[in-house]
Amino acid sequence: MPKLYLETVGCQMNVLDSELVVGTLRRQGYELTETPDDADLIFFNTCSVRQHAEDKIYSALGRLRHHKIKHPDTIIGVLGCMAQKDQELIKKRAPHVDIICGTGQLAQLPTLIQTARESGELQVALSLDRTESRHEVERSFESYDPMRDPSMRPNRFQAYVRIMIGCDKFCTYCIVPSVRGPEQSRHPEQIAAEVRQLAGEGVKEITLLGQTVNSYHHGSSRLSDLLARLHDTAGIERIKFITNFPKDMTDDLLYAIRDLPKVCPYLHVPAQSGCNDILKRMKRMYTVEFYRDMLARCREIVPGIAISSDFIVGFCGESEASFEMTCDLVREATFKNSFIFKYSPRPGTRGHELYDDDVPEEVKKRRNNDLLAIQNAMSLQDHRRRIGLRVEVLVEGPSKVTLGRSPLANGLVQMTGRTRTDHIVVFDGHPRLAGQTLLVDIDDATSFTLYGNVVTSEHISVSAESEPCCEVPAPKTDRVSLPLIG
Ligand code: SAH
Ligand code: SF4
Ligand code: F3S
Repeated sequence: MPKLYLETVGCQMNVLDSELVVGTLRRQGYELTETPDDADLIFFNTCSVRQHAEDKIYSALGRLRHHKIKHPDTIIGVLGCMAQKDQELIKKRAPHVDIICGTGQLAQLPTLIQTARESGELQVALSLDRTESRHEVERSFESYDPMRDPSMRPNRFQAYVRIMIGCDKFCTYCIVPSVRGPEQSRHPEQIAAEVRQLAGEGVKEITLLGQTVNSYHHGSSRLSDLLARLHDTAGIERIKFITNFPKDMTDDLLYAIRDLPKVCPYLHVPAQSGCNDILKRMKRMYTVEFYRDMLARCREIVPGIAISSDFIVGFCGESEASFEMTCDLVREATFKNSFIFKYSPRPGTRGHELYDDDVPEEVKKRRNNDLLAIQNAMSLQDHRRRIGLRVEVLVEGPSKVTLGRSPLANGLVQMTGRTRTDHIVVFDGHPRLAGQTLLVDIDDATSFTLYGNVVTSEHISVSAESEPCCEVPAPKTDRVSLPLIG
């Protein structure tokens, strides 16, 4: 069997795209291999959101230069966002590449591979402009998603489902709108069919994907309508969705989270900055006051909801005072966690054109560390408040520290899973618990993890009639005490 090596960087969209690429190529007879050494196809599914993500791929491509001389039949492909953005540069820096394929053209890969093999010439398939990519996306929604490959998912019971593609927001720092094309929502019928198919394959948790997922609208159908519709899918126990845009956090969506028990009370809503001048330069279209009100509204309508955020430090013009305002927001907002990034100028964005990248690298680094330290302290507080709670955990599998180690007594290992609020929980349990929903009593916490004991191994079935989000203080009785590893 011919072998495919595929390396993926970037966001969940790319992870899903890679699953689809592998699904398509498996049908062509390829099998996956762990190393490029013996591969017939070497593919990189790339990201352009920050310079670092691109550097990683260019160095990997550089390392393959000799490989290609020794194995001229190996086909090397650059897929995804960096392919869309950097066609000429890839040709220049890595002339040994055989295929350059954008995100809207991935379904064409079987043909591109064949033509590259036969002709020995570089094959390029990219979106020419944003209007063209709208049609490609429409087609790819139809032709591509049936090609899913469960073996590519971290486990069989969790899956991503694309409900939108592209972005029209054009935040000034961000390359995504130009590499992923225009914002486009998928037909609810198609989404519902895919979710039914996944449920039939044993998937219990779906995560709906969109760059601004709460801006979803197809005809008169909004995200709240879509959630209500998907909620009836038998077998699906949890529905999550990422990533939310603060401005589009409408009350109907919050009521849907409150009223639909399968919809998890967790929102990722990036703030990016706590300073109005910077938000304006970023063209985020809201003020920090609006963002604070939005947080209050989420928490009022859905008590107990967990919220996480993203921040960029060192954006053009960010003074020490602006940065302090971001620190204040992180201190007040009690985010579950935040992803913090140093600003990376992206040629082709408005930010790069309009503003100087005037915050020195050491200052960006220091602000990154400082904000992370504040967030970690806040996460620890949030986690400590959960000690003594009984939470519902969907078990994902053995935790990373366990893998490769011998089991504890009774065949137990350290297992990991997530609560409905997306908190990571580690506990001792049998590996066969993977995929089950259990009750766990939380009795310890760090900034990143909750630790606990399984109350019962009985599977909890979440039905449309059950109560939403039950995180109740644990009674001290009926506890199955299992040894806990810190
Ligand atoms: N669509 C999502 C996020 C897309 S990219 C949203 O709007 O929230 C993921 C994160 O990368 C962003 O939230 C932002 O914090 C960060 N990011 C995007 N462009 C960046 C850049 N040029 N430099 C540093 N971080 C960036
Ligand atoms: Fe980028 Fe802004 Fe679109 Fe998110 S909303 S993908 S940050 S342009
Ligand atoms: Fe990166 Fe493309 Fe996602 S630029 S963050 S892989 S949409």
